[in-house]
Amino acid sequence: MKKITIAIDGYSSTGKSTIAKQLAMVLGYVYVDTGAMYRAVTLFALRNGFVGGMSENIPALVGSLHKIELTFTYNEDLGYSEMYLNAKNVEKEIRTLEVSKYVSRVAEIKEVRHKLVDMQKKMGKGKGIVMDGRDIGTVVFPDAELKVFMTASPDKRAYRRYKELLDKGEKVTYEEVLENVRYRDDIDSSREFSPLRKAKDAIGFDNSDMGLKEQFERMHNFALRVIEKQ
Ligand code: DC
Repeated sequence: MKKITIAIDGYSSTGKSTIAKQLAMVLGYVYVDTGAMYRAVTLFALRNGFVGGMSENIPALVGSLHKIELTFTYNEDLGYSEMYLNAKNVEKEIRTLEVSKYVSRVAEIKEVRHKLVDMQKKMGKGKGIVMDGRDIGTVVFPDAELKVFMTASPDKRAYRRYKELLDKGEKVTYEEVLENVRYRDDIDSSREFSPLRKAKDAIGFDNSDMGLKEQFERMHNFALRVIEKQ
């Protein structure tokens, strides 16, 4: 059967990656979490003092982009790929609230977006890919056969994220996480370069009151319907 490209976009902490990962596994497709790429660049920027603290130096970050090597390496035990920054696994480090605080700022930078979008387009050349992010259906794969735009209320999303961070042992408050979710919604949707937008031909998917099983089943059905028509 002909393989397709699946673009899943939406607000932060809507659970895009959980569903996208499952979908890719069942279809035998490659899964790419583009948020992880923006997070890895942010980690690099924080480690080098280009963002964070009292000052920022965006020109220095842009000048150092060539020193950033991003790769995804498949982890057989987990069944999906993990993010590597300059040959080091950074999966854990990129999911902290510290990185979440600065990632929208870094994702606004035109040169950062160019570098990452180029890489993403190359990864999708062979089709058979599920990619999630903010601009996949609008910029990276405007011709994707299936586009889904995920939303959920800010408090539901903040609560899910808060529980995830607590499970990982981070000391955070619900209010702090809610503030971060609102802040990122705001920057992600108002930035100048490829802001978060629902593509005209994307299916809107509000999962505020849906469990994981139902979300997966619906998404799987969307995919099967499109694949059958190929
Ligand atoms: O999906 P996530 O929450 O891990 O993404 C982290 C941040 O990266 C998000 O706040 C916005 C940015 N991002 C983006 O601008 N474009 C993408 N395709 C993916 C993520």
